[in-house]
Amino acid sequence: MHFTSLLSLIVTSLALVSAVPISPSEIATNSAKGLRLLDLSEDTEPVWKTEDEVLDLLRAGVNFFDVTEVYVDQQKWASTAKLAKTSGTSAKLATFPAPSHQTALRPILQTVSTANMQTSLTALTNFNNRYYRATTGASASTWIRDKIQGYITQYSRSDVTVSLFTHTYVQSSIIAKIPGTDPSGPITIVGAHMDSINLSNPTSGRAPGADDDGTGTVNLIEGFRALLAAGFRPTTPVEFHWYAAEEVGLLGSQAIATNYKNAGKSVKAFMELDMSGYFRPGSTEVMALQADFIDEGLNTFLKSLITTYSRIPWAMDTPCGYACSDHASWYRAGYPSSFPFEAVTGNDNPTITRHPTPPASTASLGRTPSSLPKLVSHLSPK
Ligand SMILES: *[C@@H]1O[C@H](CO)[C@@H](O)[C@H](O)[C@H]1NC(C)=O
Ligand SMILES: [Zn+2]
Repeated sequence: MHFTSLLSLIVTSLALVSAVPISPSEIATNSAKGLRLLDLSEDTEPVWKTEDEVLDLLRAGVNFFDVTEVYVDQQKWASTAKLAKTSGTSAKLATFPAPSHQTALRPILQTVSTANMQTSLTALTNFNNRYYRATTGASASTWIRDKIQGYITQYSRSDVTVSLFTHTYVQSSIIAKIPGTDPSGPITIVGAHMDSINLSNPTSGRAPGADDDGTGTVNLIEGFRALLAAGFRPTTPVEFHWYAAEEVGLLGSQAIATNYKNAGKSVKAFMELDMSGYFRPGSTEVMALQADFIDEGLNTFLKSLITTYSRIPWAMDTPCGYACSDHASWYRAGYPSSFPFEAVTGNDNPTITRHPTPPASTASLGRTPSSLPKLVSHLSPK
């Protein structure tokens, strides 16, 4: 054993021994001062950062869970949180059947409209930004809620609901619920984040967020519409979630996953769509399954869905890293999660927000329009 690794082992052990839960009063005091509690890695306790330090971390491309508002709740279910933190980065919690809804689903896939998605994407990118503390970020939430309510009305589905899930900042998440014929059955959730950020000037800088994550957002809107138009009545409940404040530490999805966990809700599966609009010209188009903070059983099911319903093959990506998108919030709450992405790392969109100096335009879509509907084939009809 190298001396340095021995040393790091000792330091890690000491850190574990000295790990005392942060008290609710410390959290109240520090968050009142504007400090944020960030969970930066699996092996370390969360640390307090100023808002400027938070922005500097984002600019450096560091991902984290901002646990300021959920730390106390997460301590209550420390055993699953610990599982997620210490037993590797994926688990097998769930088993799923072979795809069996080809007859019902294939005609619905034919109705998925790329033009509808592009219309929604234009509306979303027309907001100056969708920052979680900007009025335009709040308006983007109500725009999505109203769009979804419009489809509920258009297709006369009074059993289907949509509502804002409000947070401690002006932007809200949006939750649409299609009840199951077994209303108490486990919930299937598809999610995307609806916020965007300009790291040079978060509050008023331009951040169209066309691919990140306008694409995932409009995939869900159009998937929702196509299912309602087809009279979709699932056996178990299906929910569509659009998350606020993903770009600043997964705030929206953590608040909702924590809320569901506290309420004892049973979740059959969670799937995140965060970027589906681009693959590097000249590379092979795939659905790139993220390899960490996911459920192996759910990934196996996704592979069979993709093979059954899509012309695009799946591929395994390299690990996405700690807290890279909203699926990690559900994984940490102990729910089976997954995250198919637009391309394997290196073939994905080079212009997303995390780059320290993003090129001026993020609005171009490299993916052929006909491939966008294919992502909707991930939806589980059960
Ligand atoms: C972000 O904001 C800065 C400052 O307002 C601006 O110069 C830059 O073009 C914006 N970035 C994008 C991608 O629009
Ligand atoms: Zn994203």
